[in-house]
Amino acid sequence: MTTTTASLFETSLFRCRSSSCSKFKYEFESPAKTGILSPASCKHVVRSLRALRIRCSSDDPGSGSVFLSSRRKMAVMLSTVQLLSHLLPPKGNAADIYGVMQSEIRKVVTKGKAAGVLRLVFHDAGTFELDDNTGGINGSIAYELERPENTGLKKSLKVLAKAKIMIDAIQPVSWADMTSVAGSEAVSICGGPTIPVVLGRLDSSQPDPEDKLPPETLSASGLKECFKRKGFSTQELVALSGAHTIGSKGFGDPFTFDNAYYKILLEKPWTSTTTSKMTSMVGLPSDHALVEDDECLRWVKQYAEDQDKFFKDFTNAYIKLVNSGAKWKTL
Ligand code: HEM
Repeated sequence: MTTTTASLFETSLFRCRSSSCSKFKYEFESPAKTGILSPASCKHVVRSLRALRIRCSSDDPGSGSVFLSSRRKMAVMLSTVQLLSHLLPPKGNAADIYGVMQSEIRKVVTKGKAAGVLRLVFHDAGTFELDDNTGGINGSIAYELERPENTGLKKSLKVLAKAKIMIDAIQPVSWADMTSVAGSEAVSICGGPTIPVVLGRLDSSQPDPEDKLPPETLSASGLKECFKRKGFSTQELVALSGAHTIGSKGFGDPFTFDNAYYKILLEKPWTSTTTSKMTSMVGLPSDHALVEDDECLRWVKQYAEDQDKFFKDFTNAYIKLVNSGAKWKTL
């Protein structure tokens, strides 16, 4: 495990390691490890922590390192956290922490970062294989960032690590839950559907098997086969591919989650000799493949005509994706 990867899992600990504050070395566990705060308390803690201007290190923001500007601020934070930990009920409502997750995620995930975050979800969950029940949504993406198919995802994980530090201070959450909720928020931030996500996934402590994600060069039948091995139908393949409506490689406005992907796909702009081939109009070979296959084409047409249906089917397929291969906490 690399230092960066290992430290991505340490966000329930606040550490002060910078040279500027090396005199004050504090390490303590999350205040709410054994309980859940009420929404009002959550807001108070979050506000308190923010007021202390905790900053993530810019050169390794995923490390969980935070710099506190003074000994006094650290002392105030410690006492706030200790006081609250005594006041906490032993058990709480999962809805409370869900709200905190949404709020903290929205502070770091802008429209510009939404596509990377949504892609992160697929690259964590998409390793799932039904036949041997390996892979799936388990936070193992943090160990797989050097794989070629995950190029560019390190920065998305680091963005989420900043929010996770704040959430873990209230109640530790798994990376699997974190990415699942963040992907849902990313969709919503870009104008897409509101997708509810159940919490309780456990993280893996090792990478998933390699070469489980579909290469972009797959034909439609290859894509269908690949998704089938993960428990997804052709309809779900087409609905999930609609995620490419945001980001730099798909179709439509890169910051708007809508059904433009399907509308433009039907126009096959990549075959045109007259249309200017802007990056946003080129798409991926795996996108092009969808309109070359009758079964996929049927769904592409439906989603191009009916955005509500796309949103509904994407919602259901996304929920299935973030439950793929998940191991759950027992109550
Ligand atoms: C159908 C099989 C799929 C293939 C072959 C595929 C492949 C790719 C590739 C090659 C990229 C470009 C990465 C880069 O910027 O270099 C990409 C981007 C993206 N993928 Fe997929 N993908 C697939 C399905 C999915 C699914 C199911 C989701 C999520 C539900 C997803 C979400 C995204 C997003 C949001 C981006 C844009 C990322 C950005 O611009 O930062 N993809 N995909």
